[in-house]
Amino acid sequence: MARRRQIYEGKAKILYEGPEPGTLIQYFKDDATAFNAQKKGTINGKGVINNRISEFVFTRLSHIGIPTHFIRRLNMREQLIRQVEIIPLEVIVRNVAAGSLSRRLGIEEGELLPHTLLEYCYKDDGLGDPLVSEEEIACFNWCSHEEMQDISSMAIRINDFLCGMFSAIDIRLIDFKLEFGRIWDGDYSRVILADEISPDGCRLWDINTGEKLDKDRFRRDLGGESEAYQEVARRLGILQNDD
Ligand code: C5P
Repeated sequence: MARRRQIYEGKAKILYEGPEPGTLIQYFKDDATAFNAQKKGTINGKGVINNRISEFVFTRLSHIGIPTHFIRRLNMREQLIRQVEIIPLEVIVRNVAAGSLSRRLGIEEGELLPHTLLEYCYKDDGLGDPLVSEEEIACFNWCSHEEMQDISSMAIRINDFLCGMFSAIDIRLIDFKLEFGRIWDGDYSRVILADEISPDGCRLWDINTGEKLDKDRFRRDLGGESEAYQEVARRLGILQNDD
């Protein structure tokens, strides 16, 4: 497909104008960043694997009734998606303490949380995506009360589905990040799942060994990032040299 106009370049992805109105092409890069882009690097082949993992997950989520922006994969690194108005929130779903939660509250990494926790961060690189309360979200009108209800119920359903999907392949889903967007139909809008779901935005630990199979390998200089991402794809039954 001929290159189209670039709409946006993020840390791990580029968005191009799509072939039809209301569509975009999402291109997955090998670039990796951490700590609000203070650490930069590349993970060889990451874009190819994340494109496939995200396709796999979004397709299955649509089968259980979660509306998503994913239309179809176009090639190794690109997928066709619906254009959305991104809601400026990162929705973090946590099952087990890790990362910033452990640092902020002094809870040991690996401790099972009494119940699933939802956290919201305001999407702003300049501010370092700060944690925000539901009252702040309502006060600054980042999304409506009804949208928050849709987002939180979808996040819980996605978590239930992903926990089962990963545990079937001996992976423990510690936490992950979701992004949502609005699509408009006349005066009405609805919220759909956007962005990607891949080892870049999830913590995935091997159930038996506790080995990290996600971007923490890069964040914490553990090495073996490409192999870990490949292992997740292999266990999901994708990336079997079919392209
Ligand atoms: O760093 P923290 O513990 O807050 O991250 C929680 C989860 O959200 C992790 O799985 C991390 O990969 C993901 N995340 C993300 N992008 C961010 C912040 C967190 O994908 N900007």
